[in-house]
Amino acid sequence: MSSALFSPFKLRKLALDNRIVVSPMCQYSAVDGRATDWHLGHWSQLLQSSAGMFTIEATAVSATARITHGCLGLYDEACENALSERLAIARRNAPPMPVAIQLAHAGRKGSSQVPWEGGQLIPRESGGWTPVAPSAIPQLPNESPPTALDAKGIGQIRDEFVAAAKRAARLGLDALELHCAHGYLLHEFLSPLSNQRTDAYGGSFDNRVRLPLEVFTAVREAWPHDKPLGVRISATDWVDGGWTIEDSIALVRRLKGAGCDWIDTSSGGISPAQKIPLGPGYQVHLAREIRRATSIATMAVGLITEAKQAEAIVASGDADLVAMARALLWNPRWPWHAAAALGAQIRTPQQYWRSAPREAPNAIANAKLGMR
Ligand SMILES: Cc1cc2nc3c(=O)[nH]c(=O)nc-3n(C[C@H](O)[C@H](O)[C@H](O)COP(=O)(O)O)c2cc1C
Repeated sequence: MSSALFSPFKLRKLALDNRIVVSPMCQYSAVDGRATDWHLGHWSQLLQSSAGMFTIEATAVSATARITHGCLGLYDEACENALSERLAIARRNAPPMPVAIQLAHAGRKGSSQVPWEGGQLIPRESGGWTPVAPSAIPQLPNESPPTALDAKGIGQIRDEFVAAAKRAARLGLDALELHCAHGYLLHEFLSPLSNQRTDAYGGSFDNRVRLPLEVFTAVREAWPHDKPLGVRISATDWVDGGWTIEDSIALVRRLKGAGCDWIDTSSGGISPAQKIPLGPGYQVHLAREIRRATSIATMAVGLITEAKQAEAIVASGDADLVAMARALLWNPRWPWHAAAALGAQIRTPQQYWRSAPREAPNAIANAKLGMR
């Protein structure tokens, strides 16, 4: 039986063993933006998952681009060194797997408590900072407003993304994803709900897409040409008068023209008024629409939890790749079980070659064992 989910895929020169991508997942466990031993353990687990690619969590391009004090950063030498050291150990103990990193700016969602402390905005007087945004409109009506960026601030943000991309290249990371989703800064520029600027960066569609496209183009130039660069978008705000799937398709056409290699198709996050029809694969149709309209490689994400469900998404051409988050936290060996269920094969550490179950004795590729 041949499986679409377990067929190889290429993003530029980068070869993926299969179509399963570990979705970026904030761990809120960094110190001053620096990776800690928590990351070492977390990355090790997921690098042994046999997914096709692992994506490092939303990684801030400056200290004030972090969502929380615990967010990972890539904005100084200390961040770069901490990430380099932990990742090297995690990679050494796993079969080869491409590693992507998601570069992000939290915008008006910055200066928040970590989720397990309630996730609320931390005021300056309690050790927070004043977040920046396209317009001085708070995320929630009762919150104090962010500072609207001026032209100099916008230029600085672009430079920070470029500097972080150069650090990512120096670290030897394989792929890079720009976070333009979930109500963070670049999404805030796209959506008319959060962007009410009257200069060249707000108002018309052309103006609202300007900063995300400028950041993309500048990062594309700084990031090695043979390495893939993708974008995560919120394909719809799920709010009347907000960003729509038609807007997304128009944006993706421009991103594709600028050298974008994949669209990671998420949704929502800009407004508490959003009405999301949650259910299995609830965002897959957005990936399908973008793929059909633009022929770009898409990643579907959101409540994809079953092997047959993931297989059908790829086999039907709804998406080229399937990104998964919570199901992989719950069971980091999800791809092993999916391969066994679909009659496919995965690569595992050789120390685990004896683990294949009786019902799927050939699930581990190249397993050779001898003893006397
Ligand atoms: C713990 C956790 C952390 C997350 N952090 C990020 C992140 O850093 N960047 C991002 O784009 N999405 C983040 N997400 C969203 C996931 O990547 C994913 O899009 C979402 O959870 C839906 O997929 P799922 O149903 O497979 O979990 C996070 C989700 C979880 C559960």
